[in-house]
Amino acid sequence: MVQLTPEEKGMLAGSLGEGVALAMESVVRVAEVLGAPRLVKVSSAHISGVSYKNLGEEGVEFLEELAAKGARFSVPTTVNPAGFDMEVYREMGVGEEEYELQMRIVRALASMGARVTLSCTPYLINPPSFGDHLAWAESNAVLYANSVIGARTNREGGPLSVLEAIVGRAPYVGLHTDEGRAPTVVVDAGGVRSFVERTGAVSALGYLLGAKVKAGVPLLVNAPRNLAHPGNLRLFLAAVGAASSIGMVLVEGVSPEFKRVEGLKEIALEEGELERVLGKWSGEAFDAVVLGCPHLSPGELAELASRLGGRRVKGRVLVFTSRWAVSRAADAVEALRRSGVEVYADTCMVVGNLSALGVRRCATDSAKAAFYLSNQGYEVVLAPRNFLLKAVLSSQR
Ligand code: F3S
Repeated sequence: MVQLTPEEKGMLAGSLGEGVALAMESVVRVAEVLGAPRLVKVSSAHISGVSYKNLGEEGVEFLEELAAKGARFSVPTTVNPAGFDMEVYREMGVGEEEYELQMRIVRALASMGARVTLSCTPYLINPPSFGDHLAWAESNAVLYANSVIGARTNREGGPLSVLEAIVGRAPYVGLHTDEGRAPTVVVDAGGVRSFVERTGAVSALGYLLGAKVKAGVPLLVNAPRNLAHPGNLRLFLAAVGAASSIGMVLVEGVSPEFKRVEGLKEIALEEGELERVLGKWSGEAFDAVVLGCPHLSPGELAELASRLGGRRVKGRVLVFTSRWAVSRAADAVEALRRSGVEVYADTCMVVGNLSALGVRRCATDSAKAAFYLSNQGYEVVLAPRNFLLKAVLSSQR
């Protein structure tokens, strides 16, 4: 039985309108199924799965209906990438009809009060604080919020996050609770530490950890030092999320809640296992390098531009980021474009349509992207960013 406050009971009974009552009913039902004793107020929400391809007509009608019934987001709410860059959609092979379908989603979300950020990095755009409770969908964002910031959110589904954003509450269960955040297994990266520091294979490391541990809260010890670099950390966590249902990793030297615990099962990661992950997506040939899973930050755009140093890239390089980051790193984006890099906002290589951009075989530094793109039928090479940049700057290609 979920204990509701008088205010929550009122919402359920329709004190704030039909839309809120509908949302509250579903959130309470989910809380019951999960065995949550109560709901917890959240300070923000992040909605995923907002492309038309993902939502379909029913999903769009559901959003429009909620909006028409007067439902409004009661907490700051951001939104994951859409199917294409809203400014250059024609260049991406998107027709007016497809554009209009996506716009129905954008309009419905905006009319309910969302900040339509179309990015998977809400932790950069609207950063939460330590101890904040959140209702976030999008696994890389959830992993970052829990592991790096010490905010508290479960890995919500896209539709549930919409309803939680309306009622401003989530079931008090799992990673919202102290018990749910306690480590369940120690993962020792000592055996792969020098390999990862030498090669930069941080994303493969995340994939390996996710694939071996699968669930719970791993406590990562002897983490490679290069994991502390913000871009590396984001690649690592995104890959953990792609390979598992994990929503938080306690990383030594990074996570505010990291604390050594005795008596837990220990798993050691080995170099051969990491090589096998890299071997899954190996190869020489690709027709484009795709970067930005998760979306590149303004700092990463600047780093990339300075790394290219005004030189023209050989072959195609596609970069995915947020409109927010583009506006904050406008000079870097300009420089990247002058170097021949294609910069896209609002979308990403997985949610968008790479083949409409003429890409069949791609190379990426993100194991999350490698995982989803190979599932979509693309030929994928996974390699560290440095390696890929060397390749596009070398005159041999
Ligand atoms: Fe973000 Fe798309 Fe990757 S949503 S984490 S860039 S799959």
